[in-house]
Amino acid sequence: MNEPLSPAAARERAPGSLPVLVTGGAGFLGSHLCEELLRRGHFVLCLDNLLTGSLGNVEHLLGNERFRFLRHDVTEPLSLRVSAIYNLACAASPPQYQRDPLHTIKTSVLGALNLLALAQENDAPIFHASTSEIYGDPAVHPQTEAYWGHANSWGPRACYDEGKRCAETLFYEHIRQNGVDARLARIFNTYGPRMSPADGRVVSNFVVQALTNADITLYGDGSQTRSFCFVSDLVEGFLRLMALDRAPAGPVNLGNPMEITVGELAERVVAMTGSRARIVYRPLPQDDPRQRCPDITQAGSLLGWRPTVTLDEGLALTIRHFDARLSAPDLLMAAE
Ligand SMILES: NC(=O)c1ccc[n+]([C@@H]2O[C@H](COP(=O)([O-])OP(=O)(O)OC[C@H]3O[C@@H](n4cnc5c(N)ncnc54)[C@H](O)[C@@H]3O)[C@@H](O)[C@H]2O)c1
Repeated sequence: MNEPLSPAAARERAPGSLPVLVTGGAGFLGSHLCEELLRRGHFVLCLDNLLTGSLGNVEHLLGNERFRFLRHDVTEPLSLRVSAIYNLACAASPPQYQRDPLHTIKTSVLGALNLLALAQENDAPIFHASTSEIYGDPAVHPQTEAYWGHANSWGPRACYDEGKRCAETLFYEHIRQNGVDARLARIFNTYGPRMSPADGRVVSNFVVQALTNADITLYGDGSQTRSFCFVSDLVEGFLRLMALDRAPAGPVNLGNPMEITVGELAERVVAMTGSRARIVYRPLPQDDPRQRCPDITQAGSLLGWRPTVTLDEGLALTIRHFDARLSAPDLLMAAE
Protein backbone atom coordinates (compact mmCIF):
# COMPACT_ATOMS: atom_id res chain seq x y z
CA MET A 1 0.00 0.00 0.00
CA ASN A 2 1.20 3.56 -0.76
CA GLU A 3 2.70 5.91 1.84
CA PRO A 4 0.11 8.37 3.18
CA LEU A 5 0.26 11.88 1.78
CA SER A 6 1.29 14.73 4.02
CA PRO A 7 -1.47 17.31 4.45
CA ALA A 8 0.54 19.77 2.38
CA ALA A 9 1.04 17.29 -0.44
CA ALA A 10 -2.64 16.41 -0.36
CA ARG A 11 -3.48 20.07 -0.85
CA GLU A 12 -1.15 20.32 -3.84
CA ARG A 13 -3.11 17.70 -5.70
CA ALA A 14 -5.75 18.92 -8.07
CA PRO A 15 -9.21 18.28 -6.60
CA GLY A 16 -10.56 14.96 -7.74
CA SER A 17 -7.24 13.30 -8.59
CA LEU A 18 -7.30 11.34 -5.34
CA PRO A 19 -10.12 8.94 -4.61
CA VAL A 20 -12.96 9.53 -2.22
CA LEU A 21 -12.95 6.62 0.23
CA VAL A 22 -16.32 5.04 1.01
CA THR A 23 -16.13 2.50 3.84
CA GLY A 24 -19.04 0.08 3.84
CA GLY A 25 -19.25 0.93 0.13
CA ALA A 26 -20.58 -2.51 -0.85
CA GLY A 27 -23.54 -2.17 1.50
CA PHE A 28 -27.00 -0.78 0.86
CA LEU A 29 -26.32 2.94 1.44
CA GLY A 30 -22.64 2.77 0.49
CA SER A 31 -23.30 1.33 -2.96
CA HIS A 32 -25.74 4.16 -3.76
CA LEU A 33 -23.23 6.71 -2.46
CA CYS A 34 -20.41 5.21 -4.62
CA GLU A 35 -22.69 5.38 -7.65
CA GLU A 36 -23.60 9.03 -7.03
CA LEU A 37 -19.99 10.07 -6.37
CA LEU A 38 -18.95 8.46 -9.67
CA ARG A 39 -21.83 10.19 -11.43
CA ARG A 40 -20.50 13.49 -10.09
CA GLY A 41 -17.04 12.80 -11.53
CA HIS A 42 -15.14 11.55 -8.46
CA PHE A 43 -12.65 8.70 -8.24
CA VAL A 44 -14.07 6.26 -5.71
CA LEU A 45 -12.32 3.73 -3.51
CA CYS A 46 -14.95 1.40 -2.08
CA LEU A 47 -13.71 -0.39 1.04
CA ASP A 48 -15.67 -3.21 2.62
CA ASN A 49 -15.12 -6.48 4.49
CA LEU A 50 -18.28 -7.90 2.82
CA LEU A 51 -19.78 -8.80 6.21
CA THR A 52 -23.30 -7.66 5.32
CA GLY A 53 -22.64 -6.03 1.96
CA SER A 54 -21.83 -7.86 -1.25
CA LEU A 55 -19.86 -7.41 -4.43
CA GLY A 56 -23.18 -7.88 -6.20
CA ASN A 57 -24.13 -4.38 -4.98
CA VAL A 58 -21.20 -2.79 -6.82
CA GLU A 59 -20.52 -5.21 -9.65
CA HIS A 60 -22.05 -2.76 -12.13
CA LEU A 61 -19.38 -0.24 -11.05
CA LEU A 62 -16.37 -2.58 -11.29
CA GLY A 63 -15.82 -1.81 -14.98
CA ASN A 64 -15.63 1.93 -14.31
CA GLU A 65 -12.02 3.11 -14.48
CA ARG A 66 -12.66 5.62 -11.68
CA PHE A 67 -13.84 2.87 -9.30
CA ARG A 68 -11.75 0.51 -7.16
CA PHE A 69 -12.77 -2.05 -4.56
CA LEU A 70 -10.63 -2.87 -1.54
CA ARG A 71 -11.50 -5.70 0.83
CA HIS A 72 -10.53 -4.54 4.32
CA ASP A 73 -11.92 -4.52 7.83
CA VAL A 74 -12.01 -1.03 9.38
CA THR A 75 -11.09 -2.47 12.77
CA GLU A 76 -7.59 -2.82 11.27
CA PRO A 77 -5.47 0.30 10.66
CA LEU A 78 -5.12 1.43 7.06
CA SER A 79 -2.85 3.71 5.12
CA LEU A 80 -4.14 5.20 1.89
CA ARG A 81 -4.07 8.42 -0.07
CA VAL A 82 -7.56 9.86 -0.26
CA SER A 83 -9.20 13.25 -0.81
CA ALA A 84 -12.23 12.68 1.43
CA ILE A 85 -13.72 9.89 3.54
CA TYR A 86 -17.27 8.67 4.01
CA ASN A 87 -17.37 6.22 6.91
CA LEU A 88 -20.41 3.97 6.52
CA ALA A 89 -18.90 0.64 7.56
CA CYS A 90 -21.10 -1.09 10.13
CA ALA A 91 -23.85 -3.68 9.98
CA ALA A 92 -27.10 -1.75 10.39
CA SER A 93 -29.87 -4.27 10.96
CA PRO A 94 -30.35 -5.78 14.45
CA PRO A 95 -30.08 -9.48 13.45
CA GLN A 96 -26.86 -8.69 11.58
CA TYR A 97 -25.17 -6.50 14.19
CA GLN A 98 -26.21 -8.86 17.00
CA ARG A 99 -24.54 -11.84 15.29
CA ASP A 100 -21.10 -10.78 16.57
CA PRO A 101 -21.76 -7.93 19.02
CA LEU A 102 -18.10 -7.44 19.96
CA HIS A 103 -17.11 -7.03 16.34
CA THR A 104 -19.97 -4.53 15.92
CA ILE A 105 -18.63 -2.40 18.78
CA LYS A 106 -15.09 -2.66 17.42
CA THR A 107 -16.33 -1.61 13.98
CA SER A 108 -17.81 1.58 15.42
CA VAL A 109 -15.03 2.39 17.88
CA LEU A 110 -11.82 1.08 16.29
CA GLY A 111 -13.23 1.93 12.86
CA ALA A 112 -13.75 5.53 13.95
CA LEU A 113 -10.22 5.74 15.40
CA ASN A 114 -8.62 4.23 12.28
CA LEU A 115 -10.55 6.46 9.90
CA LEU A 116 -9.97 9.58 11.98
CA ALA A 117 -6.24 8.79 11.87
CA LEU A 118 -6.51 8.41 8.10
CA ALA A 119 -8.37 11.72 7.83
CA GLN A 120 -5.58 13.41 9.80
CA GLU A 121 -2.82 11.82 7.71
CA ASN A 122 -4.48 13.03 4.53
CA ASP A 123 -5.82 16.31 5.91
CA ALA A 124 -9.10 15.09 4.42
CA PRO A 125 -12.67 15.87 5.45
CA ILE A 126 -14.52 12.92 6.89
CA PHE A 127 -18.24 12.12 6.95
CA HIS A 128 -19.52 9.69 9.54
CA ALA A 129 -22.76 7.72 9.35
CA SER A 130 -24.21 8.01 12.82
CA THR A 131 -27.74 6.93 13.58
CA SER A 132 -31.10 7.75 15.14
CA GLU A 133 -30.29 4.84 17.50
CA ILE A 134 -28.29 7.45 19.42
CA TYR A 135 -31.73 8.48 20.75
CA GLY A 136 -32.52 4.90 21.88
CA ASP A 137 -36.20 4.49 22.74
CA PRO A 138 -36.78 8.24 22.78
CA ALA A 139 -38.83 10.07 25.38
CA VAL A 140 -39.02 13.18 23.16
CA HIS A 141 -40.85 13.50 19.81
CA PRO A 142 -39.83 14.33 17.23
CA GLN A 143 -36.14 13.91 18.00
CA THR A 144 -33.98 17.00 17.66
CA GLU A 145 -30.20 16.82 17.66
CA ALA A 146 -30.24 18.48 21.10
CA TYR A 147 -31.96 15.45 22.65
CA TRP A 148 -29.42 13.27 24.52
CA GLY A 149 -31.31 10.04 24.10
CA HIS A 150 -32.72 7.20 26.15
CA ALA A 151 -30.59 4.16 25.39
CA ASN A 152 -29.91 0.95 27.29
CA SER A 153 -26.16 0.46 27.74
CA TRP A 154 -26.27 -3.31 28.20
CA GLY A 155 -29.29 -4.62 26.28
CA PRO A 156 -29.19 -6.53 22.99
CA ARG A 157 -29.08 -3.34 20.89
CA ALA A 158 -26.29 -1.74 22.95
CA CYS A 159 -23.45 -3.12 20.82
CA TYR A 160 -24.76 -0.94 18.00
CA ASP A 161 -26.23 2.04 19.89
CA GLU A 162 -23.39 2.48 22.36
CA GLY A 163 -20.74 1.81 19.71
CA LYS A 164 -22.26 4.57 17.61
CA ARG A 165 -22.51 6.88 20.63
CA CYS A 166 -18.84 6.31 21.46
CA ALA A 167 -17.93 6.91 17.80
CA GLU A 168 -19.67 10.31 17.97
CA THR A 169 -17.61 11.15 21.07
CA LEU A 170 -14.41 10.13 19.28
CA PHE A 171 -15.28 12.29 16.30
CA TYR A 172 -16.03 15.39 18.39
CA GLU A 173 -12.88 14.94 20.52
CA HIS A 174 -10.83 14.69 17.32
CA ILE A 175 -12.48 17.85 16.03
CA ARG A 176 -11.70 19.70 19.26
CA GLN A 177 -8.27 18.24 19.98
CA ASN A 178 -6.86 17.69 16.50
CA GLY A 179 -8.82 20.04 14.26
CA VAL A 180 -10.24 17.25 12.10
CA ASP A 181 -12.87 18.38 9.60
CA ALA A 182 -15.66 15.90 10.41
CA ARG A 183 -19.34 15.97 9.54
CA LEU A 184 -21.81 13.62 11.24
CA ALA A 185 -25.27 12.66 10.07
CA ARG A 186 -27.73 10.90 12.36
CA ILE A 187 -29.53 8.72 9.87
CA PHE A 188 -33.13 7.60 10.43
CA ASN A 189 -34.66 4.50 8.79
CA THR A 190 -33.82 4.47 5.12
CA TYR A 191 -35.02 2.04 2.48
CA GLY A 192 -34.70 1.34 -1.20
CA PRO A 193 -33.22 -1.00 -3.79
CA ARG A 194 -30.24 -3.14 -2.67
CA MET A 195 -31.32 -3.56 0.93
CA SER A 196 -30.35 -7.10 1.73
CA PRO A 197 -33.52 -9.21 1.37
CA ALA A 198 -32.52 -11.29 4.38
CA ASP A 199 -31.24 -8.73 6.84
CA GLY A 200 -34.42 -8.36 8.84
CA ARG A 201 -35.18 -4.68 8.25
CA VAL A 202 -38.86 -3.90 8.19
CA VAL A 203 -39.28 -2.61 4.62
CA SER A 204 -37.27 -5.38 2.94
CA ASN A 205 -38.96 -7.99 5.20
CA PHE A 206 -42.45 -6.84 4.29
CA VAL A 207 -41.72 -6.47 0.58
CA VAL A 208 -40.08 -9.89 0.22
CA GLN A 209 -42.78 -11.58 2.32
CA ALA A 210 -45.53 -9.88 0.30
CA LEU A 211 -43.97 -10.74 -3.05
CA THR A 212 -43.56 -14.38 -2.06
CA ASN A 213 -47.02 -14.55 -0.41
CA ALA A 214 -45.36 -15.61 2.84
CA ASP A 215 -46.73 -14.53 6.22
CA ILE A 216 -45.93 -10.89 6.96
CA THR A 217 -44.35 -10.84 10.40
CA LEU A 218 -45.37 -7.83 12.41
CA TYR A 219 -43.54 -7.39 15.70
CA GLY A 220 -45.71 -5.98 18.50
CA ASP A 221 -49.22 -4.76 17.73
CA GLY A 222 -48.04 -2.67 14.76
CA SER A 223 -48.71 0.65 16.48
CA GLN A 224 -45.01 1.53 16.82
CA THR A 225 -44.03 4.23 14.35
CA ARG A 226 -41.12 4.73 12.00
CA SER A 227 -40.36 7.35 9.39
CA PHE A 228 -38.86 6.06 6.16
CA CYS A 229 -36.50 7.99 3.91
CA PHE A 230 -35.79 6.88 0.35
CA VAL A 231 -32.11 6.19 -0.31
CA SER A 232 -31.59 8.81 -3.06
CA ASP A 233 -32.82 11.56 -0.74
CA LEU A 234 -30.47 10.42 2.00
CA VAL A 235 -27.42 10.30 -0.29
CA GLU A 236 -28.21 13.84 -1.44
CA GLY A 237 -28.15 14.86 2.25
CA PHE A 238 -24.70 13.24 2.74
CA LEU A 239 -23.29 15.11 -0.25
CA ARG A 240 -24.73 18.45 0.84
CA LEU A 241 -23.29 17.99 4.32
CA MET A 242 -19.84 17.33 2.85
CA ALA A 243 -20.18 20.27 0.44
CA LEU A 244 -20.62 22.83 3.25
CA ASP A 245 -17.73 25.30 3.58
CA ARG A 246 -17.58 24.67 7.31
CA ALA A 247 -18.57 21.61 9.30
CA PRO A 248 -21.67 22.20 11.45
CA ALA A 249 -21.00 22.40 15.19
CA GLY A 250 -22.83 19.12 15.87
CA PRO A 251 -24.51 16.17 14.19
CA VAL A 252 -27.34 16.68 11.70
CA ASN A 253 -30.48 14.52 11.56
CA LEU A 254 -31.23 13.11 8.10
CA GLY A 255 -34.48 11.27 7.60
CA ASN A 256 -38.05 11.63 6.48
CA PRO A 257 -40.33 13.15 9.12
CA MET A 258 -43.41 11.50 7.64
CA GLU A 259 -44.32 9.08 10.42
CA ILE A 260 -46.25 5.88 9.76
CA THR A 261 -47.14 2.95 11.99
CA VAL A 262 -45.50 -0.32 11.13
CA GLY A 263 -49.01 -1.83 10.82
CA GLU A 264 -49.99 0.74 8.18
CA LEU A 265 -46.74 0.08 6.33
CA ALA A 266 -47.53 -3.66 6.19
CA GLU A 267 -51.00 -2.95 4.80
CA ARG A 268 -49.63 -0.55 2.23
CA VAL A 269 -47.05 -3.07 0.99
CA VAL A 270 -49.72 -5.80 0.75
CA ALA A 271 -51.96 -3.46 -1.27
CA MET A 272 -49.15 -2.30 -3.59
CA THR A 273 -47.96 -5.82 -4.34
CA GLY A 274 -51.45 -7.33 -4.64
CA SER A 275 -50.19 -9.98 -2.26
CA ARG A 276 -52.23 -12.80 -0.72
CA ALA A 277 -49.95 -12.74 2.34
CA ARG A 278 -51.49 -12.66 5.83
CA ILE A 279 -50.20 -10.40 8.58
CA VAL A 280 -49.08 -12.41 11.63
CA TYR A 281 -48.14 -10.89 14.98
CA ARG A 282 -44.97 -11.68 16.96
CA PRO A 283 -43.67 -10.29 20.29
CA LEU A 284 -41.86 -6.97 20.11
CA PRO A 285 -38.09 -7.49 20.51
CA GLN A 286 -36.48 -6.09 23.67
CA ASP A 287 -35.66 -2.36 23.56
CA ASP A 288 -37.36 -1.89 20.20
CA PRO A 289 -38.14 1.85 19.93
CA ARG A 290 -41.88 2.63 20.03
CA GLN A 291 -41.70 5.88 18.11
CA ARG A 292 -39.12 7.32 15.77
CA CYS A 293 -39.39 10.58 13.87
CA PRO A 294 -36.66 13.08 13.00
CA ASP A 295 -36.84 16.81 13.47
CA ILE A 296 -35.05 17.95 10.29
CA THR A 297 -35.12 21.70 10.93
CA GLN A 298 -31.30 21.80 11.01
CA ALA A 299 -30.93 19.86 7.76
CA GLY A 300 -33.34 22.34 6.18
CA SER A 301 -31.58 25.47 7.39
CA LEU A 302 -27.96 24.27 7.01
CA LEU A 303 -28.25 22.16 3.87
CA GLY A 304 -31.47 23.33 2.23
CA TRP A 305 -32.37 19.63 2.36
CA ARG A 306 -35.63 17.81 2.73
CA PRO A 307 -36.82 14.47 1.36
CA THR A 308 -38.50 14.65 -2.03
CA VAL A 309 -39.48 11.01 -2.72
CA THR A 310 -42.89 10.06 -1.32
CA LEU A 311 -43.37 6.75 0.48
CA ASP A 312 -45.54 5.44 -2.36
CA GLU A 313 -42.95 6.38 -5.00
CA GLY A 314 -40.10 4.90 -2.98
CA LEU A 315 -42.00 1.72 -2.16
CA ALA A 316 -42.90 1.25 -5.84
CA LEU A 317 -39.20 1.46 -6.81
CA THR A 318 -38.23 -0.88 -3.98
CA ILE A 319 -40.93 -3.43 -4.85
CA ARG A 320 -39.85 -3.37 -8.52
CA HIS A 321 -36.24 -4.02 -7.45
CA PHE A 322 -37.09 -6.96 -5.19
CA ASP A 323 -39.50 -8.37 -7.74
CA ALA A 324 -36.67 -8.45 -10.32
CA ARG A 325 -34.29 -10.05 -7.83
CA LEU A 326 -36.78 -12.69 -6.77
CA SER A 327 -37.43 -13.65 -10.37
CA ALA A 328 -33.66 -14.12 -10.86
CA PRO A 329 -32.73 -16.34 -7.87
CA ASP A 330 -29.10 -16.66 -9.06
CA LEU A 331 -28.81 -12.90 -8.73
CA LEU A 332 -30.38 -13.05 -5.29
CA MET A 333 -27.93 -15.69 -4.09
CA ALA A 334 -24.94 -13.89 -5.60
CA ALA A 335 -25.91 -10.77 -3.73
CA GLU A 336 -26.15 -12.45 -0.30
N1 LIG B 1 -29.99 2.11 6.42
C1 LIG B 1 -30.41 2.74 7.49
O1 LIG B 1 -31.63 2.91 7.69
C2 LIG B 1 -29.43 3.34 8.48
C3 LIG B 1 -29.94 4.05 9.57
C4 LIG B 1 -29.04 4.61 10.48
C5 LIG B 1 -27.67 4.48 10.29
N2 LIG B 1 -27.22 3.77 9.22
C6 LIG B 1 -25.74 3.63 9.10
O2 LIG B 1 -25.35 3.75 7.74
C7 LIG B 1 -24.27 2.86 7.47
C8 LIG B 1 -24.61 1.97 6.29
O3 LIG B 1 -25.79 1.22 6.60
P1 LIG B 1 -26.48 0.26 5.54
O4 LIG B 1 -27.93 0.38 5.75
O5 LIG B 1 -25.93 0.51 4.19
O6 LIG B 1 -26.02 -1.15 6.09
P2 LIG B 1 -25.34 -2.38 5.31
O7 LIG B 1 -25.23 -3.49 6.29
O8 LIG B 1 -26.05 -2.63 4.03
O9 LIG B 1 -23.92 -1.79 4.97
C9 LIG B 1 -22.85 -1.77 5.87
C10 LIG B 1 -21.60 -2.14 5.11
O10 LIG B 1 -20.48 -2.09 6.00
C11 LIG B 1 -19.69 -3.25 5.81
N3 LIG B 1 -18.98 -3.50 7.07
C12 LIG B 1 -19.53 -3.88 8.25
N4 LIG B 1 -18.55 -3.99 9.18
C13 LIG B 1 -17.38 -3.66 8.55
C14 LIG B 1 -16.04 -3.60 8.97
N5 LIG B 1 -15.67 -3.90 10.22
N6 LIG B 1 -15.09 -3.25 8.06
C15 LIG B 1 -15.44 -2.97 6.78
N7 LIG B 1 -16.71 -3.01 6.32
C16 LIG B 1 -17.66 -3.35 7.21
C17 LIG B 1 -20.69 -4.33 5.44
O11 LIG B 1 -20.11 -5.43 4.77
C18 LIG B 1 -21.66 -3.56 4.55
O12 LIG B 1 -21.26 -3.55 3.21
C19 LIG B 1 -24.01 2.09 8.76
O13 LIG B 1 -22.94 2.71 9.44
C20 LIG B 1 -25.28 2.26 9.56
O14 LIG B 1 -25.04 2.23 10.94
C21 LIG B 1 -28.05 3.19 8.33
